[in-house]
Amino acid sequence: MCGIFGIITNQDTISVGNIVFEGIKRLEYRGYDSCGIVSLSNSKLYLKKDSGKIDEIQRKINLAEIPNNSKLALAHTRWATHGAPTKINSHPHLDCHNKIAVVHNGIIENFLELRKELTQNGHIFRSETDTEVIPHLIESQMKKGLNFKDSVIESLKLLKGAYGLAVCQVDNPNSIIVARKESPLVIGIDEGKTTYCASDIPAFLPLTKKCYIMDDDELAILKAGEVEFINLLTNEKVKKELRTIEWSIDAAEKGGYEHFMLKEIYEEPTAIRRTLKISKEQLKIFANILWSAENIYITAAGTSFYASLAGKFILTKFLGKYIQAIECSEFQTQLTNSLKKDSVIIAVSQSGETIDTVEAIRWARSYKDVKILTITNVVGSTLTRYSDNVIVTQAGPEIGVAATKTYSTQVLTLALVALEIAKLRKVELESDIVKYERALRSTPQIIENFLKNNIDLIKGIVDTLDKSAQFFFLARGISIATAKEGGLKLKEVACRFIEGYSAAHAKHGPISLVRAGFPIIFIAPPDETYQRLIGNVMEFKARGGKIISLVVESDNVIAELSDLTIKIPQPGDKYHNIFSPITFIPALQLLAYYASLLHGLDPDKPLNLSKTVTVH
Ligand code: M6R
Repeated sequence: MCGIFGIITNQDTISVGNIVFEGIKRLEYRGYDSCGIVSLSNSKLYLKKDSGKIDEIQRKINLAEIPNNSKLALAHTRWATHGAPTKINSHPHLDCHNKIAVVHNGIIENFLELRKELTQNGHIFRSETDTEVIPHLIESQMKKGLNFKDSVIESLKLLKGAYGLAVCQVDNPNSIIVARKESPLVIGIDEGKTTYCASDIPAFLPLTKKCYIMDDDELAILKAGEVEFINLLTNEKVKKELRTIEWSIDAAEKGGYEHFMLKEIYEEPTAIRRTLKISKEQLKIFANILWSAENIYITAAGTSFYASLAGKFILTKFLGKYIQAIECSEFQTQLTNSLKKDSVIIAVSQSGETIDTVEAIRWARSYKDVKILTITNVVGSTLTRYSDNVIVTQAGPEIGVAATKTYSTQVLTLALVALEIAKLRKVELESDIVKYERALRSTPQIIENFLKNNIDLIKGIVDTLDKSAQFFFLARGISIATAKEGGLKLKEVACRFIEGYSAAHAKHGPISLVRAGFPIIFIAPPDETYQRLIGNVMEFKARGGKIISLVVESDNVIAELSDLTIKIPQPGDKYHNIFSPITFIPALQLLAYYASLLHGLDPDKPLNLSKTVTVH
């Protein structure tokens, strides 16, 4: 995944260099191994790029300084796929004569053959990237006499793969051409004055709240304060809805917190309260479809997959049907011969752009007559286009690469659907359903209370575990999802090796690693698995393991057995226990966050990771 940003304006009073620099910085979460800016003025392209994080490059070559009279600029922040993260491979990429510049997010699958052909025709390539074929293709189309727009259109026809791209050309200083296929692209507009393009809305949110969301196979011609859309399949103009973005830039920026990850953990109560307001109609649609389904699958990647595991547990309880959870990358492989028509597939994805999730759903749709129910945090994302019904979680923009508030809102959404099913099926007493609803509605307050009183405790635990490089996160039942997700956070942002596992299963192998002081985090709400979990705690304690437990306030059994205890301020009844994946997770997210700081890492930019994985 990479980030692209572009601006074209007719205003003399604004500093294009600063705007494009700030814009691309707001997209740094999408990739941060190199960055570049190209600006156009006096019929010439001015290119600045280098490898490294944006601030480092800024210090080195002052990216934001571009010619004063520039009214057009494109920028890119890269997460390397083809070619190492070097200066030469960073974007923008130019044609042979430095007249065309391209920034691109996605992968051009047939770039090798295109590159070979272009090279044979005399084009000189400077980088190892797939992207560089694009300016050369446009160059060769323009050489044939086509105008800028038609050259881009003809070039796009030759590309196989995914792109969100923006192009400028020196003889066309009044336009930027952008196009989208399977990689996100949004257009912001200050009508009559300035137009922006970006991979994500926060990039231009401080500048305008008006935007268009591009669809696949669309091209747009951006002029200062105006935009025209063309459908690349029909070659016809498209009229698109101008949307007003409701969230403020504060929601997308750090707002006083040291890191996005911390800010987003603190935003969980608000995100949950907003998501609790999802319309009953939408929940009922999901509930009815699931109630009448014969075969149900749930699929996702990473954190969204762990949210799915927790959600599947809650859904199964109230639905009384088996739901198979399959990682999206395995979906097609595992179901090629067994996916039945009339199946219902729940796809969960924060971004709605994860390629493996999108592909699983695309495959399922084309292969069988199935229904797709999607839960995502991003309106209009690719996944939503392949879905029969969509619920958008109300987490707001999540910038930290490590998913936090989107996890809790995903679990919450699945829980809300589950309670709707409970009402339909009437297998639970009405008074019980009311109690479950009340418990679910109390989750934001529980998290708020926890955040208010436990930061020093978490920091203290992190200090105590300073030297530990390996951890187990163990649990039973629904809490296995919490163990896996809590462990994933520590792995991602603090670079510790962890195994998130079933506590019962752990004695079939993993326990052999335990020596004196080996840290084991037990997630232990007092549900039906609690008594047996006590036995597991004893097994690990007997081998010298350092026991850290996550329990409810009133716990005094596992807490007593533990070296360190984190108490979640919630009742220990069945109504609350089932929603513990939501209320217990902030403690583990914070543990990971402070461990990351202790080890001198940047929790917002975990090594080798990208917010949205758009490669297989
Ligand atoms: O956007 P998605 O929810 O589809 O993303 C799935 C995973 O890539 C994502 O959850 C990843 O595991 C995060 N880095 C977790 O913090």
